[in-house]
Amino acid sequence: MKRVDDFRLRLGNQELVPIVIGGMGVDISTAELSLEAARLGGIGHISDAMVPTVSDRRFNTKYVRNKLAQYKFNVANPDKSVVKFDLGLLAEATKLHVSRTMEAKRGPGLVFINCMEKLTMNAPKDTLRVRLSAALDAGIDGVTLAAGLHLGTFSLIEDHPRYNDAKLGIIVSSLRALQIFLKKNSRHGRLPDYVVVEGPLAGGHLGFGMDWAKYDLAAIVAEIHAWLVAEKLDIPLIPAGGIFTGSDAANFLEMGAGAVQVATRFTVTHECGLPEDVQQEYFKASEDQIEVNQISPTGYPMRMLKNSPAIGSGIRPNCEAYGYLLDASGNCQYIEAYNREVAAHPEARKVKVFDKTCLCTHMRNFDCWTCGYYTYRLKDTTRKNEDGSYQLLTAEHVFHDYQFSTDGKIALPE
Ligand SMILES: Cc1cc2nc3c(=O)[nH]c(=O)nc-3n(C[C@H](O)[C@H](O)[C@H](O)COP(=O)(O)O)c2cc1C
Repeated sequence: MKRVDDFRLRLGNQELVPIVIGGMGVDISTAELSLEAARLGGIGHISDAMVPTVSDRRFNTKYVRNKLAQYKFNVANPDKSVVKFDLGLLAEATKLHVSRTMEAKRGPGLVFINCMEKLTMNAPKDTLRVRLSAALDAGIDGVTLAAGLHLGTFSLIEDHPRYNDAKLGIIVSSLRALQIFLKKNSRHGRLPDYVVVEGPLAGGHLGFGMDWAKYDLAAIVAEIHAWLVAEKLDIPLIPAGGIFTGSDAANFLEMGAGAVQVATRFTVTHECGLPEDVQQEYFKASEDQIEVNQISPTGYPMRMLKNSPAIGSGIRPNCEAYGYLLDASGNCQYIEAYNREVAAHPEARKVKVFDKTCLCTHMRNFDCWTCGYYTYRLKDTTRKNEDGSYQLLTAEHVFHDYQFSTDGKIALPE
């Protein structure tokens, strides 16, 4: 039986170990994690979600404090349309995050940035253009377009000097989404360099409805693969979602995939950004503690642990400090849900909001424990400590387990 290391991903003139660590916002896929993937010859992702707050934590900048000070007058106002990002500062924060990461890169692999269209930031096109251009300016190896159809995204950067040299990819969950993307972007002079096909077992937001369980990653990959062959389009496919062992990965590579994208196994590594007490929650989770719900204000279903503090929390919207999910008119589904509860309970000092969550604040504070379907198997990937907690892994250990294991086996740490 073949193993992952028998295959290589070809991107332009580069040959890579066909393992991609997927983007995990807000700084769950840290620079350190992405740099390990690159050092080991694969591809890692940083995320461009809430980069100003990530920069504050990483480099002691004051972007969030200053933005809150600027808009403090609006905190009690349910109308958030005045809360805008300063595009110059957004570019500065992105360049800092990306350039410091790229300067630290060692080894033959690549570091990409995961860029979510759903971060509409009260000015969708302008903020997306700035985030993408700043990341390209700062030397990112590639950009993975996520959480959205990205029908106008290539046009935002087609004049950038690195438009053709950087690797550009898109995440889709169906052949139809890919066909629409290719059609809409066909006027912009290039194809994507790779396509991530994300199935229903992934972590984070899902590109499916609440009927996600009807879909099967292998079937979607086979359908897209056959269509690309028929169209004579030579674009590597990168399946993602529920690929838990090296053998699962090798099966996809044997089917013709160019690489695999994985994430959940890396949530319990030292290099991952989740605090250790949260990582222990991931280890402990049982199958019935993982749900797909609709509390994300983006409108996409999201998978998470049922005991996430974000569920049912009724905190005041914090858009003056964050505001990443404000749409073009300054609305967010959480603001509506929160205001409804406040109006219904005028005497309450604190309300509870169950149908939506303040995703910016809770992702920023690692209180929304989003995870992949197989999180309940993480406990089988390590050893237990004497105090009953689970031993964290190194990213290198997990990466090599994907690369070299066979027969569905998972190597335990020393
Ligand atoms: C904790 C966590 C956070 C994630 N955040 C994002 C994200 O911000 N953007 C994105 O495109 N995908 C996100 N994903 C999806 C992963 O990048 C990846 O495609 C998927 O989870 C792979 O499946 P696996 O976790 O079963 O290996 C996230 C996944 C996890 C587990």
